Amino acid sequence: MDQNQLKKATALAALEYIKPNTIVGVGTGSTVNFFIDGLADLDFEIKGAVSSSEASTRRMQEHGIKVFDLNEVTETIPVYVDGADESDSGLNLIKGGGGALTREKIVAACCEQFVCIADESKLVETLGKFPLPIEVIPMAQSLVAQKLKAMGGEPMLREGFTTDNGNIILDIHGLQITTPLAMEKEINNIPGVVTTGIFALHAANILLLGTSEGVKKILPAD
Ligand code: A5P
Repeated sequence: MDQNQLKKATALAALEYIKPNTIVGVGTGSTVNFFIDGLADLDFEIKGAVSSSEASTRRMQEHGIKVFDLNEVTETIPVYVDGADESDSGLNLIKGGGGALTREKIVAACCEQFVCIADESKLVETLGKFPLPIEVIPMAQSLVAQKLKAMGGEPMLREGFTTDNGNIILDIHGLQITTPLAMEKEINNIPGVVTTGIFALHAANILLLGTSEGVKKILPAD
């Protein structure tokens, strides 16, 4: 199977977590796009979805899936389904390769369970080979870059990219994220940082990993 086939098989496996008549939390990215297409083909009704990006919203609306404004939803949202750029064995993630990290973290925080869908290339021993995306308010670009350099990273501005929230992304190369929770908090404390792409405070609860031997269900290691 090629990487796209792995992504699709993994995304469709996540449909098992979706219950009738519920609102679904929906992430962003090429793996999630397969999940959205699968949602549209379910043989039962869902109420609709809350979305983590304009791109996912458009795709769902094209399928006729109702997308709720997150602030209008008062009921429990049982499941958030999203991809990742990297996961460690604790299911701490790097996200934001597509630049949607802030809304992804917000929606993840509103849902009871985070089901992460990824192909096997995303499971790593230590987070950080994938450059860590950080959403930054534009006037804080230099400040945040300096602080991340002091932490051992090499910040690169994502050229020509503006987030759905009107901000920039710094991609931080060369970090070894051995203590994801501590590093997430440290980066969050830098003035001007909107969101770091480390998802440790809101790590995944379940990782569905697409492998050539099938989709494996992985729970966080102790
Ligand atoms: C979007 O901002 C990201 O967090 C994605 O979830 C992540 O980049 C995974 O994307 P793919 O499913 O396209 O690999």
